Amino acid sequence: MANAIVWGASGGIGRAIVEALTTAGHVVVAVSRRPDELSTLTPYTVYGDVTRPESVAEAVRLAQPHAPFEAFFYAAGDIASVRAADMSLEDWRRILDANLTGAFLCIQATLPYLAANAHLFFLGAIHERLRLPGLGAYAAAKAGLEAFADALRKEIRRPVTVVRPGAVATPLWNKVPFRLPPNARSPQEIAEAILQAWAEGRDGNLDL
Ligand SMILES: NC(=O)c1ccc[n+]([C@@H]2O[C@H](COP(=O)([O-])OP(=O)(O)OC[C@H]3O[C@@H](n4cnc5c(N)ncnc54)[C@H](OP(=O)(O)O)[C@@H]3O)[C@@H](O)[C@H]2O)c1
Repeated sequence: MANAIVWGASGGIGRAIVEALTTAGHVVVAVSRRPDELSTLTPYTVYGDVTRPESVAEAVRLAQPHAPFEAFFYAAGDIASVRAADMSLEDWRRILDANLTGAFLCIQATLPYLAANAHLFFLGAIHERLRLPGLGAYAAAKAGLEAFADALRKEIRRPVTVVRPGAVATPLWNKVPFRLPPNARSPQEIAEAILQAWAEGRDGNLDL
C-alpha cells in the first residue's frame, strides 16, 4: 500500500486514476475543483484550482498529513479549438495554465512531500499529431509540458512519466468540434496502464 496524490481528479482520466488506486488499496488524496464528486472513492478529497498558487498551497497543506507521497499524478487539462486569429488572450492563458503552468505549480508545491522513491506522472498528449488548425495553444502547452518533465527528471532524480494517450472517451471531447473516434480508449484502460507503468518503475514517455 502506498500514498498517492492526484491533481485534476474530477476529470474522466483523473477520476479513473483515483478509482484504480483506491481499488488497489492505496491511500489517495484527490485534489479537484469538484471534491464532493469524489467522496465515494476516497475520504481524502481536497479543493484545488491548479492554476492559482494560493489554492495549490492550501490543497497541499490539507494533503500533507498523508505524505510522503510515493506517486504524484497531474491529470488536469483544458482544450479549445480556436485559430490564433480568433483566440483571446484569456483563452490562450486558460489552456496554457491548465496544461502547463498548473503542472509546474502542483509539482513545485508537492515536491517537499514526495517520498524518496516517488514516481511522477503528467498527462500529456501526442502533441506532434495535434499541430492542427485551432489546436495551437493545446499542442504548444503539451509540448512544453514534455520539455518541463524532461528537465524536472534530471533535477529531482526520480522517475517522471509523461503519459501520452490517443483519444480517450471523456468530457474533454465536449469542448471541441470533433467526433470521438470509434477506437477511443476508456479512461479506465488508461488508468490501468498508468498503474502498470508505476508498478514497473517505467520512466520517460508512455504512449497509449
Ligand atoms: N480525453 C482525451 O482524449 C485525452 C487525450 C490525450 C490527453 N488527454 C489529457 O488527459 C488529461 C485529462 O483529461 P480528460 O480527458 O480526463 O479530460 P476532462 O474529463 O475534461 O478532465 C480534465 C480535468 O481538468 C480539470 N481542470 C481544468 N482546469 C483546472 C483548474 N484550473 N484547476 C483544477 N482542475 C482543472 C477539470 O476540472 P473541472 O472538472 O473542475 O472542470 C477536469 O476535471 C488532460 O491533460 C488532457 O489534455 C486527454
